[in-house]
Amino acid sequence: MVEIAPSLLSANFSNLQKDLDELKKSNIKYLHIDVMDGKFVPNISFGFPIIKAIRKDNDFVFDTHLMIEEPIRYIENFKKCGSDIVTIHYEACSNLDETIEKIKSFGMKVGLSFKPKTDINKIIPYLEKIDLCLIMSVEPGFGGQSFMEDSLEKIKKIRALIDEKNLSCLIEVDGGIKDFNLKKVIDAGVDLVVSGSDIFSNNENSISRQVEKYKKIINE
Ligand code: DX5
Ligand code: ZN
Repeated sequence: MVEIAPSLLSANFSNLQKDLDELKKSNIKYLHIDVMDGKFVPNISFGFPIIKAIRKDNDFVFDTHLMIEEPIRYIENFKKCGSDIVTIHYEACSNLDETIEKIKSFGMKVGLSFKPKTDINKIIPYLEKIDLCLIMSVEPGFGGQSFMEDSLEKIKKIRALIDEKNLSCLIEVDGGIKDFNLKKVIDAGVDLVVSGSDIFSNNENSISRQVEKYKKIINE
């Protein structure tokens, strides 16, 4: 069953819990949390205090997407503030294996992501060592961008490899997902779909109605 991971980046930060309560009522399991450092990506989002604050009253799976340089420096901090999954970027780690091991040593799940221009063949050797492969379908850094169509081929390729080797690694897609392209990524083989602006700031529907719309497409 495909799960939705709404991206906190597009939520209303002046009344965050209201949006989170709406997700809860809609039985959302995963919350996608984008952390940006202004260096790995040209934007700064939020950090530990926010994650720690929302951890108290919310039991979503905290799917933390780290768009930061050398995340190995902060793995313990993310454990302490409540991350369940820590996704790091291939391009951001000078010692990727060590970073993966460190995340595991704190009992968290490991995700690995890569920018749209990175050669997918560089990711393949890691599929056996990680819990989640996050395919970026926009340049990381900002919400509200358009889906890059060539991501579909990447999803299909990774899906085929995971199935062929019978690996437990999940596939997540992130960036430009809307109700009208959701079916395409599901058909390509994703397990987890990140959606930010289309869920939190949809022109036609409230958060819960938009989640319902997604669920209907998933169940078709
Ligand atoms: C972009 C982030 C995304 C972003 C997605 O760097 O990784 O998670 O919030 O936003 P939408 O769904 O609006 O493209
Ligand atoms: Zn993200």
